[in-house]
Amino acid sequence: MTHPQDPQSRWNDVDDYLTQMLAPADEALTAALDDSDAAGLPRIAVAPNQGKLLHLLARIQGARTVLEIGTLGGYSTIWLARALPKDGRLISLEYDPAHADVARGNLARAGLDAVAEVRTGAALDSLPRIAEEGVAPFDLVFIDADKRNNPRYVEWALKLTRPGSVIVVDNVVRGGAIADENSTDEAILATRELFDLVARDPRLDGTAVQTVGVKGYDGLLIARVVS
Ligand code: SAH
Ligand code: DHB
Ligand code: MG
Repeated sequence: MTHPQDPQSRWNDVDDYLTQMLAPADEALTAALDDSDAAGLPRIAVAPNQGKLLHLLARIQGARTVLEIGTLGGYSTIWLARALPKDGRLISLEYDPAHADVARGNLARAGLDAVAEVRTGAALDSLPRIAEEGVAPFDLVFIDADKRNNPRYVEWALKLTRPGSVIVVDNVVRGGAIADENSTDEAILATRELFDLVARDPRLDGTAVQTVGVKGYDGLLIARVVS
C-alpha cells in the first residue's frame, strides 16, 4: 500500500487497517450502513472504530442505560446497544421520521429492538418527557444531533444523569474551526458555548481530543458527571 501525500487518503488507509483489525463489520452493521445508503441518508455515521470506542466506553462504564441524541440510521445506536445487558435500555432521539424508520429496521435486524428504542421528534421536545418518565438516570449520554443545540443537550444530559455518568459529544473540532474565536458559524458558536459550560460547571469534568480518519479531521468531547 502506498501513501500519497494527501493526508485524507492516508487517514483512510490507517482507519481501514484499524477497523479491520479491531472493529470489523458484521452482517448487522454492514446492512445498517447499506440500508441507510439505500434510503438516501447522509453518510455521517460515526466511523467503525469510533463506534467501537463508544461501545467500549459504555462497557467500561458498566452502562445499563444509554441516551443517544441523533440516531440517523442507528449505526452508533447498534454499537452502543450491544454494550448493554439484556435488561438494559437505550433511548435514541431522532428528528427525521424517515431516519427513525431506517434505524428501527436496522435495530430489529440486529436483534436489539428489545433494548433500544427510537423516538421521533425534536430532541428538545422529547427530553422533558423522558425526564417525566422516570427512566433516568442514564449511565452514558451520546450527543450527536444538530450542533447548534449542543449547550442545551448538555444541560439536559446533566438533568438526566447521576454522579459518575459519562457524556460524549461528537464533532467538536470540525476541521479545526472550533479554535476560531471569530467564527460566525452557528454550530461552532454553540459548540464553543458547550466548551465554556463544561469548563465552568463544577458538575462536569471533561476533556476533548482531535481525531483524524475516514470522517476527516474532527474531535470528541468526553465528560464525567462529578455531582
Ligand atoms: N449518531 C449517528 C449519526 C447522527 S447524524 C451515528 O453516528 O450513526 C445526526 C442526526 O441528528 C440526523 O439523523 C438528524 O436528523 C438528527 N437531528 C437533527 N436535528 C435534530 C433534533 N433537533 N432532534 C433530534 N435529532 C436531530
Ligand atoms: C455532520 C454531522 C455529524 O454528526 C457528523 O458526525 C459529521 C457531519 C454534518 O451535519 O455535516
Ligand atoms: Mg457525528
